[in-house]
Formats: sequence, C-alpha cells, structure tokens
Amino acid sequence: MIYDLIVIGGGPGGYNACEKAAAGGLKVLLFEQRNVGGVCLNEGCIPTKTFLYSAKLADGANHGAKYGVYANGVTVKHEEVVARKDKVVKQLTGGIRAALKGHGVEIVEATAHIEKKSAEGYNVSAAGKTYTAKRLLIAAGSEAIVPPIPGVKEQYAAGFCMTNREILDMKEVPEKLVVIGGGVIGLEMASYFNSVGSKVTVVEMLNKIGGPIDSEISKLLQKNYEKKGVTFNLGCRVTAVEPGKVVFEKDGKTESVAADKVLLSIGRRAASKDLGLENLGIAMDRAAVITDEHMQTNMPGVYACGDINGKSMLAHTAYREGEVAVNNMLGIRDKMHYNAIPGVIYTNPEVGTVGETEETAKAKGIDYVAKTITMRYAGRYVAENEGGDGILKIIVDKKWNKLIGVHMITNYASEIIYGCCTMIEKGITIDEIKKVVFPHPTVCEAIREAIFML
Ligand code: NAI
Repeated sequence: MIYDLIVIGGGPGGYNACEKAAAGGLKVLLFEQRNVGGVCLNEGCIPTKTFLYSAKLADGANHGAKYGVYANGVTVKHEEVVARKDKVVKQLTGGIRAALKGHGVEIVEATAHIEKKSAEGYNVSAAGKTYTAKRLLIAAGSEAIVPPIPGVKEQYAAGFCMTNREILDMKEVPEKLVVIGGGVIGLEMASYFNSVGSKVTVVEMLNKIGGPIDSEISKLLQKNYEKKGVTFNLGCRVTAVEPGKVVFEKDGKTESVAADKVLLSIGRRAASKDLGLENLGIAMDRAAVITDEHMQTNMPGVYACGDINGKSMLAHTAYREGEVAVNNMLGIRDKMHYNAIPGVIYTNPEVGTVGETEETAKAKGIDYVAKTITMRYAGRYVAENEGGDGILKIIVDKKWNKLIGVHMITNYASEIIYGCCTMIEKGITIDEIKKVVFPHPTVCEAIREAIFML
C-alpha cells in the first residue's frame, strides 16, 4: 500500500497534522517510537502544569492570611502530585490516540528510518518493514542538551543529574536542588520545587533569567522568586558537576554549590540524528531541518514541523506549522508567520509575552514607542494580588500605529496573552483597539489602560 503521507513523530506537530491530513482525505501513517503526545504531553507542557497547579494551591493556602484565609499545616504529598500527573497524562494521551483512530490514522509504534526516494515515493523502514508514501512530514521533535561539561555524563548516568524527563518522575523532593540554566524549564521547575520545600539554586550563564524575555520583566520575576527563597547565581558558567555539588566560574573565580539533585535545563536540540535525512539530501542548519514558509524542505513533498526545524521550540508553534504543511499538501495556500507567537512561563506570577521586545525592535531599526504600566491599574489584579508588583509593557510601531509587542508579569498572563497575539497577527491599529470592549473587572483590562496612556 502506498500512503499519501507518512508522519514521523507523534507530538503536537505530528499528531495534529495527522488528524488534519486525514480529515482532508489523505491516507496517513504515523510513526512514534515512545508515546503519542510527544514531549509536550508526556514529559513537558502538561506534566509540568499539573505540578505547578498543585504548587499554586499550596502557595495560596500558605499565603492565605493576606486575604483573611488561614490554613493550618499545608502539606504537599509529592508522590501524589506525581501520581496525578501520570493520570492526567494517561487521560490526554488516550484522548489523542482515540482521535487519531477516529480519523483513520494508522499508527506504528517503532523507530522510523528514512531509506530513499523511489519511483513510488519515499521509503521509510521501521521494525524490519518498509513503508512507502507520496509525502513525508518530519515531526521528530527535540531532545534535552546534555552538555560536555566534566562530570555531567557520569552524574546523569548515576541519577544525580536529571533532565526534564527524569525530574518529573522523581518520587521524593530533594532538600537541595540546583538548576543549571535559568530558562523556561529551569524556572518552572525551580518554582515547583521551591513551593514544595526544596532549597533551590539557579546557576545561569547569562546576566538575566528567562532568556529573551523583556529585561524589566526578567528582573521582576527574579525579585519575586528571591523573596520566596530561590538563590540566583547569574553570569556563572558551570565548569563541573561532581558528586554532591555543582562547580561554576563567576568573574574568573571558581565557586560551588551543594546539591542533592541537579536539573540540566540548558536548552534543547532538534532530534534529527539517525532519521536518515541524509539519504534524501535534506538541507540542514546544524541539527535543524531547514524549512520555508510553507514548512517544506528542499525536497518536494518533504515537510518538517515543530522543534525539528529549530525555529520556535514550542508546542503551539508546532500545531500551526503542521497545519500549514498539511494545507500546502492539500493544495490550500497557507504560510507560517512567526511574528505573533506567544511565550509563557508558568511561574507564579506568570509571564506572558508576544512579539517584539524593546531590544528586538531596536535591533530591527523599528521606530517604536513603549509604554509600561503597573498591573495595579486593573481592579481585579489589586483584588487578587496583595502587594503585587506586576507590570505590563506594550510596544507600538509609530509608523503604522500598530501593536507589535506585549509583555506582562501577572496572574492569568498565560490566558490573556492570546488576545494580544490576535491584535498583532491581524495588524489591528491602536485606534481600532480603543474601540474594543474589554470585560470588567478583569486583569486583561490593563491592556486597554496602557493603550489609552500611549
Ligand atoms: P532555554 O533555552 O529556555 O534556557 C536555557 C538557559 O540555560 C539559557 O538561559 C542559557 O543561557 C542557560 N545556559 C546554557 N548553558 C549553560 C551553562 N553551561 N551553565 C549555565 N547556564 C547555561 O532552555 P530550556 O529551559 O531547557 O527549555 C527548552 C525548550 O523547551 C525551550 O525551547 C522552551 O521554549 C521549551 N519549553 C517551553 C515551555 C513553555 O512554553 N512554558 C516550558 C518548558 C519548555
């Protein structure tokens, strides 16, 4: 049988593309070597959100006195949090499996390897069999970078160092957790383990946390977590991991911090090794598969979506990229835009961000105006955040009078940011936004306030 489409990788990019392609009439085969749902559902977005929701409940109870609520003796049973995480993951991956089945997508649970282009199409082998399809969608995702720092490989093998995968199955709460890398994964895990009682130290190479997020918001996030007892060692390069400690260099001096467990969260790399991409001569940029705006590679009929193309390693980007690829396969013109992709850090408070920061706008030579306001302009924010110091920053292109960036640190940021994505994606002008009625009282009203204060 010759399939219309073979998809390699059943994460958000792959499984969503499978469903859309099958709904569009294509005969689809999906290869998945681990679990359907990919990193997002099994060891990323969803498991961490179940952890963080438990932490949020505990934080709320522990700090209830500020709101006249007294809870005595709040206990977090970490092993029950892990068990609930497993239940949530099982429920959601089961749902995806059922949806794929419902769409008539065939699933082969094995590692796929691209062999060659033949007269019939593309040949892919898995578990000793060969399959053929007219088109390929590579959605094999990414893997955590395990850096070549002395001791890391050995300590990873010994279970002292972990990646996002192992930390989510750890049954006990370490007394001292050292997080290497203050990016998204590092901060979310630092947040959870801080809430459940670990002494958390973050060691970050740069002078700020949160990677490319707005610098003011990065500082506020750091301040919030320092108040909660997290230690940040910024501008520090880890030079070795030894039993019981992490060694790093700061300003030319060698220092170390004691640890019971270490989380490695220094970024991810496209998982393109061993896929057989070289057999088709697929153009690569280091580990990443190069794609155009239609998500097509240099080979006709071969597409790639999600982390494998290294453009924006986020599940929601992968969904959309997969849809763009499928639409183009079905003859529906569609292009991927990367200017309004939201980013969220699910800390407490949350960070929500979309579009240009002042730094990127400057670098692009955009004539912009930025307005930063305190979140206290929103009544509901004040009602729900005793002593809250959240801010909202909007960035407007002066030439076109359009919103090009929004950055916020506040509760609900993860839910609010999509409205800003819509405004940026659709290129709505500031005058048009002024005519939009926002619900009251809400936290998102701060956006309207900032627009009127420009
Ligand atoms: P990241 O790229 O967000 O952060 C890595 C951090 O490690 C950077 O700040 C970097 O400067 C630092 N670093 C690198 N080498 C170092 C060293 N030797 N010593 C100390 N610091 C070092 O990567 P992360 O946190 O591992 O996340 C991986 C991916 O997963 C990202 O692409 C992220 O977008 C995605 N993700 C997204 C989430 C969300 O949307 N909420 C949640 C979790 C992950």
